[in-house]
Amino acid sequence: MQATEIIQVTIDDAGLQLNADGSLRHLLTLKGLDKTILIELLDEAQQFISPFGAIPARSRSLEGRTVANLFFEPSTRTRASFDLAAKRLGADVLNLDVNTSSRKKGESILDMIYTLQAMHVDIMVVRDASASVPAHIARNVNDYVSILNAGEADVSHPTQGLLDLLTIRQNKGGFNGLTVAIVGDIAHSRVARSTAHGLNTLGVGELRLVSPAALAPDPDEMPFASLTDNLDDGIRGADVVMALRIQRERMDSLEGIPGMDEYFANYGVSAKRLELAAPDAIVMHPGPMNRGIEIESSLADSSASVITQQVTNGVAVRMAVLERVSKTMAAT
Ligand code: CP
Repeated sequence: MQATEIIQVTIDDAGLQLNADGSLRHLLTLKGLDKTILIELLDEAQQFISPFGAIPARSRSLEGRTVANLFFEPSTRTRASFDLAAKRLGADVLNLDVNTSSRKKGESILDMIYTLQAMHVDIMVVRDASASVPAHIARNVNDYVSILNAGEADVSHPTQGLLDLLTIRQNKGGFNGLTVAIVGDIAHSRVARSTAHGLNTLGVGELRLVSPAALAPDPDEMPFASLTDNLDDGIRGADVVMALRIQRERMDSLEGIPGMDEYFANYGVSAKRLELAAPDAIVMHPGPMNRGIEIESSLADSSASVITQQVTNGVAVRMAVLERVSKTMAAT
C-alpha cells in the first residue's frame, strides 16, 4: 500500500460482500457471513474433491472469465490453489508479479486495479499486509468485478477459514458438540479470526483460544471463545487442535514472547500433549509450519494430522468460491 493512499475504513465488510438480493458478490470476511451461504460453499467445495490418482475435478463454468492473482505478501498455498482452482474451472488466469509491476514506480493500488479492470479482469484475488485493502478495492471496482480476499493483514483470511471448516466437517461430521482448540499466535492470526468466526456461525460446541499473554487477542474481540494461556487446559478433551505459526512479520518486537525452546515446551503441540485431547483428535495447521516451534515435526506427519487434507481442500474451496461469485455475475 502506498503511504499516500487513503483507505476507507471498513464498517461492514459482511454487507459490502453481498448483492442487494443477498447473493455473494465478493468474499471479504466470514464474520457475519450467513450460515446458509457458508454451508452451501462447503457443500459445493465437497463436490470438487477427487480421489488421488484420478484426474482432479474440473468444469468449464468459468470459461471466458479472467481471474487475476494479486499477492502483495508471500504465499505458497493460497496463491497456487487459486491459480489451480481458476484453471480447473476453465478461466484465463493472470498471476501478476507485483514486485515487477508499476506499483514499484509509485502507481496507486486503485490505478493498478482500474488498469486490470480495463483488460476485462472479472475476479481479482487480493492478498495484502494492510487491513481494509480488499474492502477498499471492492468499494471502488465496477459492478461486474468481484474481489476475493486471499489474506488481509491479521484481520481476515476467509478461504482459509472455509477450508478449515470443510476439513473439520469431513473428519468430525459437523460442529455441534465439538471442542476446538486454536493454539499459538492468535493476536496476529487472520486464520484464527476467520476460522473462529466460521466455527461460531456453524454452532461449534466450544472454542478455546490458547496463547501466551503476549500473543493473546483482545478479550472482547471474540466473546464466543474462551481464552487461556495454559496449553494443557486448552487441549484437554479437544476434538480438534489447530497450531498456528508465530507471525513475526506482523510484530515490531518479540518482547514478552518466550524463546523458541521455551515456546515449544509451553505452547508446542506435540504427541505427548495430544494425549490430553480426545482419543480421535485431529491436528491442523494452516501452514506454513515452523516444525519444532509451534508443532512437533513427527506429529505434523502422523496419522492424527490432517494438514495435507487442508491443502487439498484449499483448491476445492477456492473452486467453490470462484464458481459462486461467477454465477452471481452471470445473474446480474
Ligand atoms: N495458509 C496460507 O495462507 O498459506 P500461504 O501463506 O502459503 O498462502
